[in-house]
Amino acid sequence: MKLTVIGTGYVGLVSGVCFTLNGNHVVCVDKDEEKIAKLNQMESPIYEPGIEALIEMNLREGRLAFSSDLGESVRRSDIVILAVGTPSLPSGEANLEYIENAAAEVGQAMDGYKIIMTKSTVPVGTNEKIRQIIAANTPHPFDIVSAPEFLREGSAIRDTLHPDRIIIGIDNPKVEPVMRELHQGFTDKIVVTDIRSAEMIKYASNAFLATKISFINEIANICEKVGADVTEVAEGMGLDKRIGSSFLQAGIGYGGSCFPKDTKALIQIAGNVDYEFKLLKSVVEVNTDQRFMILDKLHESIGSLAGAMVGVWGLAFKPNTDDVRESPAREIVEALVKEGAIVKVFDPIAADNFRKQYDHPQIRWCTLPEEAAEGSDAVTLLTDWSVFKDIDLAKMASTMRRPILIDGRNLYTKAQIEGTGLEYHSVGRPSLGGLSGYSPMATAL
Ligand code: UDX
Repeated sequence: MKLTVIGTGYVGLVSGVCFTLNGNHVVCVDKDEEKIAKLNQMESPIYEPGIEALIEMNLREGRLAFSSDLGESVRRSDIVILAVGTPSLPSGEANLEYIENAAAEVGQAMDGYKIIMTKSTVPVGTNEKIRQIIAANTPHPFDIVSAPEFLREGSAIRDTLHPDRIIIGIDNPKVEPVMRELHQGFTDKIVVTDIRSAEMIKYASNAFLATKISFINEIANICEKVGADVTEVAEGMGLDKRIGSSFLQAGIGYGGSCFPKDTKALIQIAGNVDYEFKLLKSVVEVNTDQRFMILDKLHESIGSLAGAMVGVWGLAFKPNTDDVRESPAREIVEALVKEGAIVKVFDPIAADNFRKQYDHPQIRWCTLPEEAAEGSDAVTLLTDWSVFKDIDLAKMASTMRRPILIDGRNLYTKAQIEGTGLEYHSVGRPSLGGLSGYSPMATAL
């Protein structure tokens, strides 16, 4: 089949590339000509393991193309996929400006029957709006499909090619076989539903995952006070199939381009129909507070941060991505600066993106994790990059002014910390004392 994908962000680019792999011809369209020029030179605008190799292979083999000409590409296609951004408005509501403009342009370009498939995350009822916009711009027939996307950054290609399920929201049964053919080889678990339910599945799924994270973070906070270990609690809980073990990793809270935006949007969607989503409001509140737990632990360990030197390991909202959108690291670094600390930051990939959003004379940009630790009063680990696992912690401790490590992602085991001389604090686990013997939080051991 011939496809046009509109929008070359995470969802659009990854979907476009992956749909070439089961035999389709795909044109990825974006208004940003600079982005298209770079893509044509096989340069990806997003950091995603494996994507550049797939772009190169499919461009060479003629199954993939990049263009700024939406009209021409739409006319040549059987299916048009809308994958533009739906960022948050200040109210928390999704901004639908880009998707509505794209729908109008698609309508104007159409010269015959098309299937229009929405992959952007959109509030319930948006696909009906899209239908009206397209109908107002074309006399030609078309069908609408809501096909929400569940890919995770860092494993986006694997998630797209081997998803747990594919959701297809339709209102014309004739479209179902076309959708099955389009997703051939990805998975057999295809749930066909009505359009509004498909739209809701996406928000409900992200809200549920965010709830799991905030839940385990609160359990972690209680574990610290009662002397339990949240990693063991999560393991014990997760073995119950009804609970499941994923998304029970305690830490400094969720960030990224989806959970913060989609939880707020769902609260707003509920509010628009006079329903107060009390549980989800608490999930968001817990998540906002959780990041400041790092600051509390620093205060307990080293007192005032004025004039202190604090190392920060990790700025991305999670590992294997350069994305710093809604990263908890942002507010933590800002708070450290505000309290007068000198902040030595290191991230293997995301430092440039972070720096574009926030820089300050009190920040020192480091090229190695060891450099961020040297001379510091404490190191705080904010992203669980695997590179941090390989650091010689004993050697690092000997270079620090005060050998304190605050692990916001529970990356290290007790065995890895013991004998290093570090005073170690993590999330919802007993603290481990350093050789200095000074360990105000080591009481649970
Ligand atoms: C998420 C959804 O997983 C995906 O289905 C959707 O399409 C987009 O949003 P993504 O934002 O890429 O994907 O990352 P994900 O791996 O889900 O992590 C989100 C955040 O939650 C990260 O900040 C991560 O550190 C945090 N997290 C995740 C936890 O704190 N604990 C966990 O157990 C899992």
